[in-house]
Amino acid sequence: MIRVFESSVVKNEEVAPSTFLVEMEGKVDFEPGQFVMISLQDEISVIPKPFSIFYSRDGVFSVLFKVFGGWTARFSKVKAGDKVRAVAPCGTGFLTAMKRHGISEPNNILFIAGGLGVASLYPVIDFFGKSKSSLIFGGRSSHDIILKDEISQKVKSLYITTQDGSEGKKGVVLDVLFDEVSPYDFDIALSCGPYGMLKALWDFWIKNKINTPLFFAMEERMGCGLGLCFSCVIKTQYGPKLCCTYGPVFSHTEIVF
Ligand SMILES: Cc1cc2nc3c(=O)[nH]c(=O)nc-3n(C[C@H](O)[C@H](O)[C@H](O)COP(=O)(O)OP(=O)(O)OC[C@H]3O[C@@H](n4cnc5c(N)ncnc54)[C@H](O)[C@@H]3O)c2cc1C
Ligand code: FES
Repeated sequence: MIRVFESSVVKNEEVAPSTFLVEMEGKVDFEPGQFVMISLQDEISVIPKPFSIFYSRDGVFSVLFKVFGGWTARFSKVKAGDKVRAVAPCGTGFLTAMKRHGISEPNNILFIAGGLGVASLYPVIDFFGKSKSSLIFGGRSSHDIILKDEISQKVKSLYITTQDGSEGKKGVVLDVLFDEVSPYDFDIALSCGPYGMLKALWDFWIKNKINTPLFFAMEERMGCGLGLCFSCVIKTQYGPKLCCTYGPVFSHTEIVF
C-alpha cells in the first residue's frame, strides 16, 4: 500500500562523479521497479521527484541518482538528519508487469542497463539472484559504470560497453547484442536507461522479430506519481497509459515509441 511519510536522511555518499546514494529512515515494502516520490523541505525542492527504490533493509531505504538539474543538485547536498517527505511504493514493478503477460518464473534473464538505469534493475537482479542474471551495462564513459565491483558480484555474466572505450567494449549496448549475446538464449530481457537506448532496443526487437519478451522501466516526467496530474502519459498499442500507475514497467509488445 502506498504510504506518505516524513523521513530523515541517514547518509549521503558520492559513489561516482555526480552520482549519489542517499539512505533514508523507513522500511518500504516494494516490488523491484517501483519508485518513491521524494520532496525536500525547501521552497524549490518541495516539488516531488521520482526515483527507483534501490534497496530497503534494516529500517532504511535508498535511492541512487545522478545530478541532472536544480532539484537533483539540491538533493546531492542533503546531510544526515535532513528531513524529506516520501510517497512509496509507487507504480507497478517488474514482477507484476511480467505476470500481466503470463511470465512468472524466468530462469535465464538478460538485464540491459544504460547508465543510471541500473538503479531500477539492481533490486530485480537481487530478487532473481546471480545464477539467473546476466547484465549488459552501457555508459558514455567509465564514470557511468557505477558500483561495478558490487554489481559484478551479483551477476553470472557482465558485459560492459562505453561509447568512448574507457571501459569494456567500445560502443553501445546494442553492439553486445550484435556480437556477443543472443537474446534468444534468454527467457526474458529487462531494461532501463535513457530514452534513446530503450527506443533503439525496441527497434532492434521489432525489426528482428525477436520473440524473447522484453520489458522497459520508463523514466517519464512525473508531477504527482499517483495518477492524478496526467503529466506522464505513455503511448501504447491499447491507447494512452499512465507511466506512474500502469507503469513504469511496460512490455515491448504494448509500448509504442
Ligand atoms: C519512475 C522513475 C524512476 C526514476 N529513477 C531514477 C533513479 O533511480 N535515479 C536517477 O538518477 N533518476 C531517476 N529518475 C529520473 C529523475 O526523476 C530525474 O533525473 C530528476 O527528476 C531530474 O530532476 P532535476 O530537476 O534535477 O532535473 P531537470 O531540471 O528535470 O532536468 C535537467 C536536464 O536533465 C535532463 N534529464 C532529467 N532527467 C534525466 C534522466 N533521467 N536522464 C537523462 N537526462 C535527464 C532534462 O531533460 C534536462 O535537460 C527516475 C524517473 C522516473 C519517472
Ligand atoms: S505523474 Fe501525475 S498522473 Fe502520472
